[in-house]
Order: sequence, then structure tokens, then C-alpha cells
Amino acid sequence: MKTKIHLLAGLIATLTIATFLISTLLVELFGDHATIAQIKSLIVMPGLFILVPALAITGATGFSWSQSRTGRLVENKKRRMPLIAANGILILLPAAIMLNLWAAAGVFDTYFYVVQTIELIAGPINLILMGLNIRDGWKLTGRFGTKRQEITS
Ligand code: HEM
Repeated sequence: MKTKIHLLAGLIATLTIATFLISTLLVELFGDHATIAQIKSLIVMPGLFILVPALAITGATGFSWSQSRTGRLVENKKRRMPLIAANGILILLPAAIMLNLWAAAGVFDTYFYVVQTIELIAGPINLILMGLNIRDGWKLTGRFGTKRQEITS
């Protein structure tokens, strides 16, 4: 059961960030200011209200396993999680809120695009770290035909 919750929460968190990124890129390239404002608002609500609990549940279920399961793959996953959480909470979350406030007020100045650029750098970094955690998770569980890895040291 815990595996299913961890799997689901991890995939939801990863897909949420991917959706933020893709929609941001598309709207910045092809949208007008009104559409940008609409996407920024959706990223905050419901976006962040999906992402933050999903990340918290993924981390909590992952760490509760790591009490009993050790080994290189688990250690790597454990090391990445604080980076994922810090990136999410200290960069992506405030950036999403600030960009939404500015876009709603029609402010698309240099600050908006500096923060937007930071978000577009931090987002893929988190996606890579989360992707590595998914890869190592699937190695651990042996899903998709990979041999189940030893999870005790
Ligand atoms: C955003 C972060 C994370 C993502 C996206 C993620 C994703 C995954 C995925 C997709 C699986 C495979 C589940 C399955 O096939 O049923 C998995 C398994 C696992 N994850 Fe994570 N994970 C994350 C963080 C963590 C953390 C921080 C830990 C703690 C060390 C952890 C520990 C584990 C363990 C021990 C398994 C194997 C469970 C088993 O063998 O039954 N994960 N993870």
C-alpha cells in the first residue's frame, strides 16, 4: 500500500512540475498577456495545491522506508530529496506566487522575466532529480522487467 502511495504521489508531483514547465513555455512562446496570467493563476491554484502535498507525501513515504531499507540506490534517493524539496519550496513555490501576482496585475517587466527565467532553470533541475528518483525507485522495485535490486546493505 505504501509503495502504491509513494509511486502515485511521486508520479503526480513529477507530472505536475512537467505540466507547469510545458504550459509556461507554450504560453510564453504563443500566448498573450491574458493567457499568461491565466496559466500563472492555474499554476498556483490548483497547481501548487497538488504539487506541495504530493511532494510531501512522496518524501514522507520514502523516508519512512529508508528506516528499514538501505543501500546505494536508497541513499542516492535520500540525498536528492532535500534538494528537490528546497528547490520546490525556496524557488518554484515563491516564483509561482510572485509570477501569478505580477501577471494578474499586468506587470510583465524585467523582474517578471528574471523570475520566470529562474523558474525555467529550477523546474528542469527538479524534473531531472525526480526522474533519477523514479529510475532508482523502479530499479528497487524491479518494475518493468529490471531485476529487483538489493535494498538492504
Ligand atoms: C520526488 C521524489 C521521489 C520520487 C519521484 C520517487 C519515485 C519512486 C518510484 C516511481 C518508485 C517505484 C515504485 C513502484 O514501482 O511501485 C519508488 C520506490 C522507492 N522509493 Fe522513491 N521516490 C522519491 C523519493 C524517495 C525518497 C526520498 C526515498 C527515501 C530514501 C525513497 C525511497 C524509495 C524506496 C525504498 C523505494 C522502493 C520501495 C520498494 O522496494 O517496495 N523515494 N520511488
